[in-house]
Amino acid sequence: MKTPDVVIENPLLAGLRLERTPPPHVLVIFGASGDLTHRKLMPALYRLALQNLLPAGFSVVGFSRRPWDTRQFRERMAEAVQAQVGPLVPAVWQSFAEGLYYLSGQYDEPDVYQELRLFLTRLDGERGTGGNRLFYLATPPSLFPVIVQRLGHAGLVDTRGWVRLVIEKPFGHDLGSAHELNTLVQRVFTEDQIYRIDHYLGKETVQNILVFRFANAIFEPIWNRRYVDHVQITVAEQEGIGHRAGYYEQAGALRDMVQNHLLQLLTLTAMEPPVAFEADDVRNKKLDVLRAIPRYDVKEVDQYVVRGQYGPGWSMGRPVPGYREEPGVAADSTTETYVALKIFVNNWRWQGVPFYLRTGKRLPKRVSEIAVQFRQVPHILFPSEISGTIRPNVLALRIQPDEGISLQFEVKHPGPAVQVRSVTMDFQYGEAFGQRTPDAYERLLLDAMLGDQTLFTRADEVDQAWQVMEPILEAWATLPPPAFPNYTAGTWGPQEADALLARDGRRWRRL
Ligand code: BG6
Repeated sequence: MKTPDVVIENPLLAGLRLERTPPPHVLVIFGASGDLTHRKLMPALYRLALQNLLPAGFSVVGFSRRPWDTRQFRERMAEAVQAQVGPLVPAVWQSFAEGLYYLSGQYDEPDVYQELRLFLTRLDGERGTGGNRLFYLATPPSLFPVIVQRLGHAGLVDTRGWVRLVIEKPFGHDLGSAHELNTLVQRVFTEDQIYRIDHYLGKETVQNILVFRFANAIFEPIWNRRYVDHVQITVAEQEGIGHRAGYYEQAGALRDMVQNHLLQLLTLTAMEPPVAFEADDVRNKKLDVLRAIPRYDVKEVDQYVVRGQYGPGWSMGRPVPGYREEPGVAADSTTETYVALKIFVNNWRWQGVPFYLRTGKRLPKRVSEIAVQFRQVPHILFPSEISGTIRPNVLALRIQPDEGISLQFEVKHPGPAVQVRSVTMDFQYGEAFGQRTPDAYERLLLDAMLGDQTLFTRADEVDQAWQVMEPILEAWATLPPPAFPNYTAGTWGPQEADALLARDGRRWRRL
């Protein structure tokens, strides 16, 4: 598809496109020696610097237990950025690195927070950051409460500028713990200062769901139960759990992927049009979707939800161990690495339309998409020999890695006989725009700096998402342990997941 020559400015979506520079501020990263800072945050910040999107005087204070000093921190960060982005542009790196500082200390030590407060005040004077603070929690979640409390006690949230808190996932472990964390955080920060990350919302293709739905006139009228048969949302990963057993054994695919990323994709696909592209308008509509999902009865969970765990198999041309053989995983672990579920959204638009969601590790390939399958034509007027070959239309929004959108429809195969074939019309981001897709963290960091909460989850959203998960967690905790492993690494998950759709006369798309 060709890039359109004319870009029509749509006021509803203007916020998506305008390039804005945030005011000068200090970003304080807790967990600055960790993996997230190395792999995601610092490379994203540097990329923002490359695009000239950071304000003058922008400063980062890295905080962690590791006894580094500022010089070592700058060196480590240079290595981290190079590993992700490639060779540094010397002038850009130099001016960026001049704004990097480091403080080491124990997260629960009150004195360190006083030290931090004085240091930030000093930076305000030296770098003109005006008392504006963005605190980023990139530590293990067990440290979130103590850091938030210490920030409050040390008076770090009382400054003459603005103060915001970015919290990484996972936000809670279940409904109770998420609620507790929300209460605790809201004692120190107000909801409009809290930015809960779900990095899927920072992905270009995920933001495009709203543009695609609400900047085109032709899809919205058919985006409902009258025309849509069902929706399939797939987030498939090829990798296993690598060295993350410590976290993953406690989480599993339901908490790690479904409660957050997959439900977010579902809300964007199913939500009503907001009045304006503003944080609370959008989030209210997303919340409505979560509220409309009927809660499973604990006794019925088996009919709607399938869990799986990979056993040894092949991936990317090499033999790979099963989940239970991964380093740090218990030999009898019942943690799920795959989940498939059928969800309804009980409202006027979607009543009776199933949304099938699936996600898993060690599947045959990395691919994420949302496929809207339309209903079969109401009456087939072609001869009976070919009627069986007519397939319903499918609109697939490809989230990654082959970002794009395709529409499948039926055409006549050339020749004297009436033969029907399915073809696809395909749009590919790479081809149409020929530019790098920014990483989700670039967008999310920039939005937090700008004070735009649209792409961050609100307390009530997190709470509702956990409510949807609760009966599943409860059922799994009480049912006898499943016969794991139940799928071979490198295959499309357990047979029960196929049966889930087969019972409804449907099947998973072949991706
Ligand atoms: C993270 C999960 O939130 O998302 C990981 O903790 C998962 O287990 C990752 O691999 C997937 O993200 P992406 O952007 O690679 O699809």
